[in-house]
Amino acid sequence: MTLTPTPSDQFTFGLWTVGYNGTDPFGGPTRAAMDVVYVVEKLASYGAYGLTFHDDDLFAFGSTEAERRTQIDRLKAACEATGLKVPMITTNLFSQPVFKDGGFTSNDRNVRRFALRKVLRNIDLAAEMGAKVFVMWGGREGAEYDAAKDIRSALERYREAVNLLGQYVTDKGYDLKFAIEPKPNEPRGDILLPTVGHALAFIESLERPEMVGLNPEVGHEQMAGLNFAAAIAQALYAGKLFHIDLNGQRGIKYDQDLVFGHGDLHNAFALVDLLENGGPEGGQAYTGMRHFDYKPSRTEDENGVWDSVQANMRTYLLLKERAKAFRADPEVQAALADAKVYELAQPTLAEGESYDDLLADTSAFEDFQAGAYYNGKGFGFVRLQQLATEHLLGAR
Ligand code: GCO
Ligand code: MN
Ligand code: MN
Repeated sequence: MTLTPTPSDQFTFGLWTVGYNGTDPFGGPTRAAMDVVYVVEKLASYGAYGLTFHDDDLFAFGSTEAERRTQIDRLKAACEATGLKVPMITTNLFSQPVFKDGGFTSNDRNVRRFALRKVLRNIDLAAEMGAKVFVMWGGREGAEYDAAKDIRSALERYREAVNLLGQYVTDKGYDLKFAIEPKPNEPRGDILLPTVGHALAFIESLERPEMVGLNPEVGHEQMAGLNFAAAIAQALYAGKLFHIDLNGQRGIKYDQDLVFGHGDLHNAFALVDLLENGGPEGGQAYTGMRHFDYKPSRTEDENGVWDSVQANMRTYLLLKERAKAFRADPEVQAALADAKVYELAQPTLAEGESYDDLLADTSAFEDFQAGAYYNGKGFGFVRLQQLATEHLLGAR
């Protein structure tokens, strides 16, 4: 397996990621802005598949129609020249003062109508660029104070917005799906649809649930103290993994947006193993974009930005290679069998067996030796995890 990324790996980067100038709440930029054409050329040269962006990343908020068109055409020409694709587009409903209380769920109805117009315009652009996924990250959809937001009304307005957008895409005949990106907090004190689980429940309440899935981000679930690989498994189980934001996070704190793998490496290994080997017959469980949503640390100059671009892709490919070795190791296969990992796929009742049959089965209860589980019958999960660790470290 090669560790040199190619477009077939489907690695994509947000324009706002490599374009991050280092600004944080405590200090201004540490790097100069980068032109989109230059970014496209650089990403293509490193073997990326595509670029994603928010409307405001490409043309400044409030641009004239002519300015907007110039930037769109420059991007299109650069994509044409390099072969880079734009598989996902998203809308900025968080940077401008008008969105200080959110977009779809601002208490101010005029702001909500403006937000919908901004998104509708951007959906047309997504269709024009050939994007297949439209991400919705509601970073400002939330509150700091409980009395300030009627959560049930906010959820109702969120539903109203997503239903309207789904109607629009359907009427226009666009080949576009929506992916909601959960996050527990930051920039709001509490954000609506804070985790994968909340978003899954919300999606089922929509008029067109089949058009709406998830864009989970590594760091966001981990900010909530949750297991990202497990969240992804549930998203796959629900058929809702439409897109994914890969990055690194170290524990429950502010959104660090580190390079993929530069956080919880064990969970990153489990994630890549799931995506690449968790499908039927051990194939890919997810065939969409491997999208990096990270921030090159503000300590870095431009060289550090391109180092981090390559680091994201190389780490993914290394983990993919390590996960393949893990699966191919006969000792791992034996440990998985000993740990009864495959036995969980077996239904608890036999085919056609009823609860009457179960009640009549004395081996299931009357004769069952529950006591044998004390001081015996260990599962060997630790041994299995050590094997994973040794593969992860390249020791096997
Ligand atoms: C964040 C989010 C964003 C979104 C982006 C796309 O925490 O800032 O992850 O980077 O992914 O706005 O919708
Ligand atoms: Mn984030
Ligand atoms: Mn993200």
